[in-house]
Amino acid sequence: MIEVNNLTKRFGDLCAVDHVNLHVENEVFGLLGPNGAGKSTIVRILATLLRPTEGTARICGYDVVKDPQKARSMISYVPQEMALDIKLTGRENVLLYAKLYGIPDRSRKVDEVLEVMELSDRSGDLVRTYSGGMRRRLELAQALVHEPEVLFLDEPTLGLDVAARRRIWRHISSLREHGIAIFMTTHYMEEADEYCDTVAIIDHGKIVALDTPKSLKSSLRQDVITINATGAFKGSDLDSVIFSGGDDGELRFLADHGESALPELSRELLQQGMTINSIAVRKPTLDDVFMDRVTTSEDDSAFDSYKFRTMLRRRR
Ligand SMILES: Nc1ncnc2c1ncn2[C@@H]1O[C@H](COP(=O)(O)OP(=O)(O)OP(=O)(O)O)[C@@H](O)[C@H]1O
Ligand SMILES: [Mg+2]
Repeated sequence: MIEVNNLTKRFGDLCAVDHVNLHVENEVFGLLGPNGAGKSTIVRILATLLRPTEGTARICGYDVVKDPQKARSMISYVPQEMALDIKLTGRENVLLYAKLYGIPDRSRKVDEVLEVMELSDRSGDLVRTYSGGMRRRLELAQALVHEPEVLFLDEPTLGLDVAARRRIWRHISSLREHGIAIFMTTHYMEEADEYCDTVAIIDHGKIVALDTPKSLKSSLRQDVITINATGAFKGSDLDSVIFSGGDDGELRFLADHGESALPELSRELLQQGMTINSIAVRKPTLDDVFMDRVTTSEDDSAFDSYKFRTMLRRRR
């Protein structure tokens, strides 16, 4: 459904998207990454709103640069920022879209998508009076009105409460069951883990991980050890653990056997003069994959050299 080859976007000196290759089938595809990683830029290129500097992208076989009209007819795009007219009713917002797309029998079609998104009873009310979750569902209703093959959703659950997020996910999963490919960005790792078939992690414009959530998690070692400690961490010389980062006094290590690595690891930290407040061993989550693959923030830079050294030792 989506074929991306060497996609690159530069804004002046900044390379926001750096030779990205992706292949998306009939699935829920999640693009994850820190702020400014290039997620929205990719989505906007695929939605034909931005021209790539290099590389190609095809939607259902149509090139987004050479054949934008055809590509556009296959897709819908729900941007990161709300794009509804709050002075119109919910129904009027969707009707406007249906008119723009020249949908035949549009009144019936509009009622149908409002019904699917559970908005029929409030469709005559001004959008100004809608909750965040209702606004998101209205945007989905709008996006569905011309029966797209591919749906681009930029942060569809951002800022919503847990119940509203679940509801949005229920709808997304159901759309996928109906054969619509979903390409979405999110910052919520747990949601990506639960609902996405494939996940790509992007950092500084480059894809740093691409697989099913399950495979990504199993690509890490068996256990994650988190240690809440104070004092200066000077790196670990142990073979049984790999330091994978830390923030706010919490150090994270990957280990094949977390529990058996614990005694020597805590001994090492105590010898460095650190004070250990708490220790936990658990299975890796997508969050751990994320933290392991993306470059840490400036606050964490002191830890990076240790991570690098540990990695080199492992290679030797
Ligand atoms: N029109 C533009 N002109 C100049 N720089 C831009 C433009 N659009 C995006 N950028 C830059 O490109 C980089 C990627 O931005 P993008 O919006 O794609 O990130 P993102 O991954 O969607 O971030 P977020 O998670 O915060 O939404 C950022 O450094 C951003 O400042
Ligand atoms: Mg964005």
